[in-house]
Amino acid sequence: MAISRRVLIQRLRALQLSGVLEISNALRPQLCALLAAADSSVETNVSHVAPPAPSAPSYSTPDSRPGSWEASRTESAKLAVEERRAEERHPVEHNQTSTTPYPEDIPYPWEVKRTRKPGITSMNAPKKTPPPLEVLVPHEDLSYLAEMSDRHEALRLLHEKVARCTRCLELVANRSQTVLGVGNPYAELMFLGEAPGRDEDKQGVPFVGRAGKLLSDMIEKGMRISRAEESYICNILRCRPPGNRNPLPIEALNCRYFLDTQISIIRPKFICCLGACASQFLLNETTTISRMRLREYEYRGAKVVCTYHPAYLLRNPSQKKAAWEDLQFLMKLMGIEPRASS
Ligand code: URA
Repeated sequence: MAISRRVLIQRLRALQLSGVLEISNALRPQLCALLAAADSSVETNVSHVAPPAPSAPSYSTPDSRPGSWEASRTESAKLAVEERRAEERHPVEHNQTSTTPYPEDIPYPWEVKRTRKPGITSMNAPKKTPPPLEVLVPHEDLSYLAEMSDRHEALRLLHEKVARCTRCLELVANRSQTVLGVGNPYAELMFLGEAPGRDEDKQGVPFVGRAGKLLSDMIEKGMRISRAEESYICNILRCRPPGNRNPLPIEALNCRYFLDTQISIIRPKFICCLGACASQFLLNETTTISRMRLREYEYRGAKVVCTYHPAYLLRNPSQKKAAWEDLQFLMKLMGIEPRASS
């Protein structure tokens, strides 16, 4: 399917904003071919506006010019700007929509002041869905970590890699350190949160703040198992998002390989997702958490259940009863005897 140059540039820009600073050699030919295809389709559309520049670049072979990735990106950006300007200057001519003379009493389209629909401003206009990212720099192969018998050592090596990650520029600029996980890597049960908060970022350990205290109570007082010995706790992201904002999909995607590696090292039998963010990202679902709870899912050989995030329960204590139902559902799945009510 042909892809327009503008869409391609948007996608590259999205990649760049998400921290992708280089494209691996394996992907260059594909990218150059896409640029060439995009350029040739645009050239045929706009050839009546401006003749092609004498030094119009050819991207058909990746190595036809030195530094072709950088240069083609700049060149494409320039061409896109030129095209947009031509469109703004001569919209009718550019689009060739009509050959009949223009009626004198009707203003030209560019003379009409554009009005927005009432109530729609740049602030509340519906957000465009970001384009799908088709070109991602592959992660270094870490599958050997899952084969190590010493899971503590495997996690230590994984954390070394995570600490050097610079994929999400905004997170890298704001983090004090990366936060991998805490607990027993031989435990059957994994809790999956969203992302480190301020306290976790300071201490390098997940769930140590107020929400962490509530999670400890849910595990120790509710389920009657040991948080440190019988569970392992980690997050969708390994860096704190500034101001504790929700993780962006691209950040979750960037961190996904680390999470998957962590899961294949620990091989949990049960995963309990805490909150909508963890549940939706892990299971690639868009349904609400209230619809996802009390259901059994599967991920990489583990049985997965979803419940409310402890931080949400702190803000909405009336939902603690529902969270307790979720824990009982999990306990039943795990074969843990429910506590006799006193
Ligand atoms: N909230 C989370 O989702 N994870 C943490 O580690 C701390 C708070």
